[in-house]
Amino acid sequence: MTNNYETLLKNHLNTLDEKGMRRQLRQMGRSLNGRTDFKGREIINFSSNNYMGLAQHPLLIERGTDWMEKWGAGAMASRLVCGTMELHEQVEQRLIQGKGGEAALVFNSGFQANVSILAALFDKEILGSEPLVFCDRLNHSSMHHGLKAANIRQIRYHHNDLNHLESLLRKNANIAGPRFILSESVFSMDGDQSDVDALIELADKYDAQLYLDEAHATGVLGQNGFGLCAHKNVAFKMGTFSKALGGFGAYLVCSKVVREYLINRCAGFIYSTALPPSVLGTMDAALELVPSLGAERKRVLANASKVRNSFIKSGFNVGKSSTQIIPLIIGEEKKTLAFANALEAENILGIAIRPPTVPRGASRIRFALSASHSDVDINYLCDVVDHLSTKVL
Ligand SMILES: Cc1ncc(COP(=O)(O)O)c(C=O)c1O
Repeated sequence: MTNNYETLLKNHLNTLDEKGMRRQLRQMGRSLNGRTDFKGREIINFSSNNYMGLAQHPLLIERGTDWMEKWGAGAMASRLVCGTMELHEQVEQRLIQGKGGEAALVFNSGFQANVSILAALFDKEILGSEPLVFCDRLNHSSMHHGLKAANIRQIRYHHNDLNHLESLLRKNANIAGPRFILSESVFSMDGDQSDVDALIELADKYDAQLYLDEAHATGVLGQNGFGLCAHKNVAFKMGTFSKALGGFGAYLVCSKVVREYLINRCAGFIYSTALPPSVLGTMDAALELVPSLGAERKRVLANASKVRNSFIKSGFNVGKSSTQIIPLIIGEEKKTLAFANALEAENILGIAIRPPTVPRGASRIRFALSASHSDVDINYLCDVVDHLSTKVL
């Protein structure tokens, strides 16, 4: 039995190998100043989501350590049992202030948040019928999984195409029931932004509620760095602490009613141990620091513009990136892997992203810039990519 079963798994792995799509773990060493120890040497890391360099920031490390020393290593139970501490509520208060909203709830990870929040929000048993859920085609896998868990049919619109979205909203205008629009505010693999104001207008016009995933915007863009929907009329402001905020965990800023509902219905919240004090300490420190990072944000975005222009000049396609995330779209999987290896030989970590994370034929190196990168690192990246361009173009 087991052998037959494992043969099926091996067959799948072999198929992935043949297509250049097999994924493998690579062990990384310690990171500092945008560089990471890797295979016995230091490599410039252009693949992390540590956009503001907060993962190594002394204040996050100090507060995480301090809260752990004072409160212990674990929360000991789920939030509803006896795991809620004043620390959770302090972080939630900071989120309310930064993002603007009535209430906030922290979650254990961004993936867990999207899966379990969407499953609860779109629960047909509660709603009495299937809600209409309009989704950007490139939304993150965690959102797709949340909708799958809720057994909801997605009404997908072309990526960032609000004319298409409006035509679908119009077409479904006479169907009864609640409607929702789901999008990221900065798309993780393309580094382009959604037009949040236009989405708010459409939501308003068609009586829909807007759910925005701010994983890659929070800390980098928007009012005081709190993301593109900070202090805007967005019903569900979701995000993570695992990217620019340097740590781990996630959040939803929403109405008080939605918070109460999730506390009572969201399985991922109810049946999971509360976040521990060390993690909450890093969250708290990151939220305190975000408004003071204006100069770092400006620098990262200026560097991104410089890198994009340089890549384009070298003949590459960078899609519609307008943020710290810059895709170098190569297309074919094996060619993209070969390019990543060539970068590695030049001491640059630029991971190849392949299907199913991105559409077939759109494999890419996803470069992510950080405030930790020096000007020398940025110039070096541009030079190396230019030099390697002849290998793939
Ligand atoms: C848009 C988006 N949402 C959610 C997640 C999941 O967040 P986390 O890494 O905190 O689980 C990611 C991470 O890759 C993401 O890119």
